[in-house]
Amino acid sequence: MKVRKAVIPAAGLGTRMLPATKTVPKEMLPLVDKPAIQYIIEEAVASGIEDILVVTNRAKSAMDDYFDYAPELEGVLMRSGKTAEHDAVRRSADMANIFYVRQKETKGLGHAVWRAKRFVGDEPFAVLLGDDIMMGEVPVTKQLIDAAVKYEAAAIGVQRVAAEAISKYSSVQISELESKIYKVSDMNEKPAPEHAFSNFAILGRYVLTSNIFSILENTPPGYGGEIQLTDGLRTLCKGSPMVAVDFEATRYDTGNLQGFLEATIDFALKDAQVSDWLRGFMIEKVKGF
Ligand code: G1P
Repeated sequence: MKVRKAVIPAAGLGTRMLPATKTVPKEMLPLVDKPAIQYIIEEAVASGIEDILVVTNRAKSAMDDYFDYAPELEGVLMRSGKTAEHDAVRRSADMANIFYVRQKETKGLGHAVWRAKRFVGDEPFAVLLGDDIMMGEVPVTKQLIDAAVKYEAAAIGVQRVAAEAISKYSSVQISELESKIYKVSDMNEKPAPEHAFSNFAILGRYVLTSNIFSILENTPPGYGGEIQLTDGLRTLCKGSPMVAVDFEATRYDTGNLQGFLEATIDFALKDAQVSDWLRGFMIEKVKGF
């Protein structure tokens, strides 16, 4: 199994980050000096992905522009000797082959992934949710691909969450295969705590096989009246092998303000340009409390 393609659903309305997302796609909000979606694309590329489909909507054209060349800006930067800035601008356009399709209707994550059917064809593919930004040694998508290849299975990225938090996620029923890797036998989307299979939640990374598309076509609307990817995966795991990988990385939910600020601070603390200054600034701030 070789995983060369990835799908990034990015058609959400960003309602948890208003008013900033009224005119700026949430995927374009900067984490330190790069838009959030660039971290997702970098993770995909570092995991061996070559072709990426971004599922967008009509309010997201700033994303296509960002991953395009900007001849006027690049010319100005070159002429004024700002080569580092020029190279950074150019790099964002040259990272991968990026394709776009619009979801057209807001019908849920399962429907957004289904829009990738023609792009994916018969190959296995990765799905990376734009809100879930990861920081770790080995890219999380790579961790999933390695498990998918080893077990010839679909793979989902999971981590344990607090019992009271499981209703924000999908919960999975699992049994251990080896350290950090589990066989998946069932799952449900946003369960009340008493209906959760476990406290392991799916957190924004998947490696799927193309039979998910015919399943999604026959998946009725579920939680919130939307076609849920989790409901499709539930059918998938009952008919085909699926593993859950308890991945090693810190996961940030940048779709809400608290997660967005946590990611901003942690990423800035790792950024050579600002980390020393930020550390000193924070120490001074804390002294004031
Ligand atoms: C989505 C998925 C859910 C998953 C979560 C975190 O929910 O539907 O199964 O657990 O992402 O990755 P959302 O955060 O879009 O409500």
